[in-house]
Amino acid sequence: MKKEYTNGEISVVWQPKICQHSGNCVRNLQSVFNSKRVPWVNMNVAKTDEIISAVNKCFSGALSIKQNQKTEDKMENKPTNEMQKIVMAENGPYLLEGKFVFVNHEGIETIKEGKVALCRCGNSGNKPFCDGTHRRNEWKA
Ligand code: FES
Repeated sequence: MKKEYTNGEISVVWQPKICQHSGNCVRNLQSVFNSKRVPWVNMNVAKTDEIISAVNKCFSGALSIKQNQKTEDKMENKPTNEMQKIVMAENGPYLLEGKFVFVNHEGIETIKEGKVALCRCGNSGNKPFCDGTHRRNEWKA
């Protein structure tokens, strides 16, 4: 089940089904992300930019940012000529790096900047994102 945490300016969306528990969020911003606390996300102890930066380091895409208009405007002002990179992990997902807009089947857009893992094996329980099933299945490319 998807969970959302907000500071009024942005919301962090957490999808536990695809979380690979890399710990990047905790290592990068422990004041906000602390798995020993309930709730484990506290949006009121860091600046929005710091939270966005930490979420963008989420390898699996389990954490994402839902923006309000003000923050979207801020992101729109960033340079758009940045290169985007897609890497095929050995026997694993497509690793996207850059700035992307994901649009779901209902037309809801989520801006993701940083790294995202997309399923390449076809067995993820939460497509298009990798949920680690390829590892459990010992999938070979
Ligand atoms: S590549 Fe990871 S679940 Fe498919």
